[in-house]
Amino acid sequence: MYDGGKIIAGIIIFLAFATFPFYSNIGKADIKPPKPSLDTPVIKELAVKKCVEPKEYMRANHMQLLIDWRDAALREGKRIYINSRGEEVFISLQNTCMKCHSNKKKFCDECHSYANVDPYCWDCHFAKAKQEEQR
Ligand code: HEC
Ligand code: HEC
Ligand code: HEC
Repeated sequence: MYDGGKIIAGIIIFLAFATFPFYSNIGKADIKPPKPSLDTPVIKELAVKKCVEPKEYMRANHMQLLIDWRDAALREGKRIYINSRGEEVFISLQNTCMKCHSNKKKFCDECHSYANVDPYCWDCHFAKAKQEEQR
């Protein structure tokens, strides 16, 4: 009545598929997360090495902050952002963020390729050739 061989083969195939996402990750686990480099001329000059908002906030929320900046600049014509320390920051991707983080490749790009995201911003906002090359 039962075909033991087929049942066992079926179970093996089922397990192969069920566990595929698990073992296909083996070996990827030791790809080191990038350590975004802060080694740029402008950041070196800073007396206090701070971003526009605290680092943890930036790490988690810089995408939303940039979208908010864009909306503020383009929809409301607002060019000044008041940060959580009460400081005024000029709203600009190129002239604010990229002035400090001029090492786009070693900073933004490296982290994005690790996280597998590819912001389309650079289609229009152009990072200077020098920034693209700098490592
Ligand atoms: C289709 C082209 C295009 C794309 C794609 C684009 N932008 Fe823009 N963005 C513009 C233009 C044009 C302005 C207006 C520039 C100005 O007024 O000085 C602007 C302005 C901005 C500003 C405010 C002004 C400034 O100097 O920075 C921010 C911030 C911004 N964009 C962020 C982003 C982000 C973040 C992305 C990706 C998620 C993005 N943009 C994608 C075209 C684009
Ligand atoms: C005045 C220079 C300066 C400006 C302007 C600046 N940053 Fe930063 N940024 C820094 C410094 C310094 C750090 C590291 C802060 C720390 O270690 O506490 C940092 C940290 C970060 C981090 C976290 C990195 C990590 O290791 O997790 C991100 C993301 C980031 N910045 C994105 C941005 C974006 C996006 C903008 C524009 C909205 C911006 N920064 C504007 C100097 C700057
Ligand atoms: C510490 C790692 C890290 C650094 C450094 C970093 N990013 Fe990101 N960024 C991310 C991650 C992770 C995401 C995806 C977040 C998500 O999907 O929720 C992201 C998403 C974005 C997005 C939204 C893209 C989209 O399509 O949704 C923008 C815009 C962006 N980053 C801009 C920048 C800029 C500009 C810099 C350099 C000044 C930068 N990031 C540096 C990790 C980083």
